Amino acid sequence: MHINEHPIMNNHFNKDITFTYQGQTFIAREGQTLAAALFANGIKKLGVSRKFHKPRGLFCANGRCTSCFVTVNGLDHVLSCMTLVEEGMVIEANNSDPTVRSGQN
Ligand code: FES
Repeated sequence: MHINEHPIMNNHFNKDITFTYQGQTFIAREGQTLAAALFANGIKKLGVSRKFHKPRGLFCANGRCTSCFVTVNGLDHVLSCMTLVEEGMVIEANNSDPTVRSGQN
């Protein structure tokens, strides 16, 4: 759900753009963070924890906790709460360690 009318923000978030998450196409508003765009589309689970594979998602929403990591255009561990969504972005859930840690190339 997107906010369509806001008394302070006026028309700041009125341009629709598209992105994909887990291969599915969604609509975001230009100027939203990835986390806000995913949340507005009903997606709250952004990955799983490294050790116990528990659901991870938006927690602090200000770049401090690293709970909101996603993979963006192939780049692992991007903070979704601090990154603005862009047209055509390919976003994947963050379900593992980065390849540099696992020793894979
Ligand atoms: S929600 Fe805490 S860093 Fe993004």
